Amino acid sequence: MSLEIGTVVLKEALEKKYAVGAFNANGAEYVQAITQAAEEEDSPVIVQISPGATKYLGLEMAVAIVKTAANIVSVPVVLHLDHGVTYEQNIDSLKAGFTSLMYDGSELPLDENIKVTAAIVKEAHPRGVPVEAELGRIPRIEEFKGKLPLDYDYSYPPPWDIQKEVIKLMAKPDEVEKFVNETGCDSLAAAIGSIHGMENDVQPLCIERLREIRKRTGIPIVCHGSSGVIRTRKDLEIVKQRVEEVRAKGIDCRIPEGWGCMEDAIKEGLAKINIATAVSMSFLEGMKKAWDANPKEKDSRKITGPGRDAMKETIKGYMQLFGSSGQIVVAPKAKKSKEGPEGPE
Ligand code: G3H
Ligand code: ZN
Repeated sequence: MSLEIGTVVLKEALEKKYAVGAFNANGAEYVQAITQAAEEEDSPVIVQISPGATKYLGLEMAVAIVKTAANIVSVPVVLHLDHGVTYEQNIDSLKAGFTSLMYDGSELPLDENIKVTAAIVKEAHPRGVPVEAELGRIPRIEEFKGKLPLDYDYSYPPPWDIQKEVIKLMAKPDEVEKFVNETGCDSLAAAIGSIHGMENDVQPLCIERLREIRKRTGIPIVCHGSSGVIRTRKDLEIVKQRVEEVRAKGIDCRIPEGWGCMEDAIKEGLAKINIATAVSMSFLEGMKKAWDANPKEKDSRKITGPGRDAMKETIKGYMQLFGSSGQIVVAPKAKKSKEGPEGPE
């Protein structure tokens, strides 16, 4: 298929109450892993490219890789700009062929954020391209490094001192209507308690806040920093137990009332879930395992290949969790062969 427009897949997800995974790609192996996972799971998917990845790959190369991969598979693939922090990054991506944009004005005062988001929407909408905008601010774990216990191992949520700061940054329900109406944005990256860059899934989400926000707007809500979010109710119970253990050791760690897991958030209407760190770590772990097993290997494909396979498995697991697996009905003969072209080894 040719690239799909972001609005189409999110509208469908919202109606059918599942979420679409948006996976960050930093190169061809990522794009293959993401689109092949989608094909194998019969799932729609969003490939997202950050400005950092654009710098690494080159804008033209990034677009060409994703467009080609989308053409090979038979499920819808969206090409999304992730965390575009300037007007120019958004306009360049729009002109280059992205089918979904994001303006992240979360560092700006509300009125400035509204102004720039609205200006991008004005350019994108006539071309049929939607714009995601950020309200509140989703921090990075690195911002709290000094406050984390020295031996923090990501087996429990960051301590309460940090959570208080995360809570202060969350999207304010009172600002949602004004923000959405004045910007005309199509989806909302609302800060609801997640933290970017977590190495394990131990952070709860504020479901109460998500519910408040959903009451005020019908547009799809996007979860960022999702690698760190607790996945299921069962996982939530395990993390709660771990919280009790660390509290007994004198660390102030809490999961407040009204906070839950990804499963709960999807039931409350979360429609797009961004994953970067978990996929990147799978790539590294897959490659390390392969190289440790054969440190004399000279053929890089014997190392990157297992890395790519590990990413694909991680992504497929997320698609099952998000409920997007099996949502696309494809006639078997439309499925493209997974074999590569014939040629020299
Ligand atoms: O925009 C990208 C995401 O929010 C990814 O966050 O690296 O914590 O999964 P993550
Ligand atoms: Zn993000």
